[in-house]
Amino acid sequence: MLKRIQDLETEIDAIVINNGAEAESFRLAYLSKKGKVSLLFDEFKSLPSEEKRTVGQVLNLLKRKAEEKWSAAQESNDSNQESDYDASLLQQIPQGSLHPLKVVEDELVSIFSKLGFDLAEGPEIEDDHHNFGALNFADDHPARDMQDTFFIAEHVLRTHTSSVQVREMERGQPPFRLVMPGRVYRNEAVSARSNCFFHQIEGLYVDEGVSFTDLKQTLYYFVQQFFGEGTQIRFRSSYFPFTEPSAEMDIWAGLDTEENRRLTKGTGWLEVLGCGMVHPNVLESCGLDSKKFSGFAFGMGIDRLTMLKYGISDIRDFFSGDVRMLQQFGGL
Ligand code: DAH
Repeated sequence: MLKRIQDLETEIDAIVINNGAEAESFRLAYLSKKGKVSLLFDEFKSLPSEEKRTVGQVLNLLKRKAEEKWSAAQESNDSNQESDYDASLLQQIPQGSLHPLKVVEDELVSIFSKLGFDLAEGPEIEDDHHNFGALNFADDHPARDMQDTFFIAEHVLRTHTSSVQVREMERGQPPFRLVMPGRVYRNEAVSARSNCFFHQIEGLYVDEGVSFTDLKQTLYYFVQQFFGEGTQIRFRSSYFPFTEPSAEMDIWAGLDTEENRRLTKGTGWLEVLGCGMVHPNVLESCGLDSKKFSGFAFGMGIDRLTMLKYGISDIRDFFSGDVRMLQQFGGL
């Protein structure tokens, strides 16, 4: 029997295992239950006990040797597979990146979230009530005109994110402290400065005792965060059906460059947003007691802010699908 063990050892020594399939056949041929090594163990059981000691030792050595050969083959097979993996190839696959409008939207949401504003969103296909009626637009208000609004049968594509204010206020009772970003649509001639769809972010704070001072302070904080410490602001009185009083807010861009003179039409002031105190009619339309609650709202164009921030001069570039444009914002 010792001789047969030796022969088997020579046989195993001679075997070269090249790949996973060969390792598996090796295991089957020698180490499995019906394998040659295991069969020797079966025979070993019926040896007289005086032989068992010596043969047992040799046979165990053979078994260990065969197992080591098999596991070494397995390991080198694993590491071969690893070496087929070329990490540098990954770098050649173009990486996507966030769209610049999304980058700015995220920044705006995060600035207001520091003041306790939560995120809310609403549908782009709206009804007249949420887009106009509940926002105190008179039935004959020109904004309902076909020229501004895209109609889909009985519905409209929302013309502003103010519709989300209504949806949120209808859901319950104050306090509401929300920012509501999203896409809006207007039936306007497309040019470098205006597109038939663009993006807004709406803000709303309704509670007991909310004042115009709260509005100013909130917007002042936003401007310092977004445009930089020390940026000056001014409010001009304005009109929106859903706020009273209403205002537009400008930031001081200065007159020191040709670009700033052009952007500000020679005034140095740049209009950034519309705002005001939520009109009592709007609160009542949403089922809130306008004697008990007051609030402020504001809305601004994300596309415009993004163009200002990155010096983009044509709004259509955002959706031209030209990857060279997007590559500048982190993609390859
Ligand atoms: N909805 C207005 C627009 O699209 C922007 C706006 C102005 C929103 C004043 C407001 C606001 O919430 O208070 O032009």
